[in-house]
Amino acid sequence: MIQRLDKLLGSQGMGSRKEIARLVRRGCVLVDGAPAGDPAQKVDPQSQQIVVSGKPVVYREHLYLMMNKPAGVLSATEDSRQRTVLDLLPPEFDRRGLFPAGRLDKDTTGLLLLTDDGAFAHRMLSPRSHVFKRYRATLERAVTPEDVALFARGITAGGETFVPARLFPAEDPAGKAAFVEIREGKFHQVKRMFEAAGNRVLALHRCAIGGLVLDEDLAPGAVRLLEENEEKQVFIGQNQQKQEI
Ligand code: URA
Repeated sequence: MIQRLDKLLGSQGMGSRKEIARLVRRGCVLVDGAPAGDPAQKVDPQSQQIVVSGKPVVYREHLYLMMNKPAGVLSATEDSRQRTVLDLLPPEFDRRGLFPAGRLDKDTTGLLLLTDDGAFAHRMLSPRSHVFKRYRATLERAVTPEDVALFARGITAGGETFVPARLFPAEDPAGKAAFVEIREGKFHQVKRMFEAAGNRVLALHRCAIGGLVLDEDLAPGAVRLLEENEEKQVFIGQNQQKQEI
């Protein structure tokens, strides 16, 4: 799609309009080998080669960001009173039409994907996709073999049924942490499952969605762009999980 150079580079997370204008002025942006003269010049990313500071721009239609969501912010695009995950994004991702693909509770931390790709989010969140999510839960009491069996059978509580989930102890000095893998995304699901087992979640952290694992060196509130095709890792293991649980 033919578009303005600054708009295109902004859409690829290469900086704000101001920053891009500065790069153009300094001659750091080449279009088909020649320095760009104007940030507003029209370019076609499909057919023209664009290089910024010596690096070719690999055009991607959609953006996928991994965030380490901190506690205390909403997984929403806007809220009149409370901070949302979009408020944490660096300025180069402003006005990109990004939204969180799925929700974590306000007090839940960990892996959250943000994208402008509605079809991807829909596929990832569809129960039919069987994408699993792994959480680390810090609990009021240690899990027992009975809890593991209960989660594996599936839980019916408060008129709702949760499909079988895998529960296994995590390393924890107090012995009160566990990993849980679920394929659904019902409201407060992990907390409600533990509640049904007579336990209580004190802290919840999402470590992985399918084969996509949260980068441990991503500070709370920080984001990074996924590499090309990295977003597809969320679908790794979907069928295997379905059979195993
Ligand atoms: N289950 C919960 O209870 N909360 C979350 O944020 C995610 C899964």
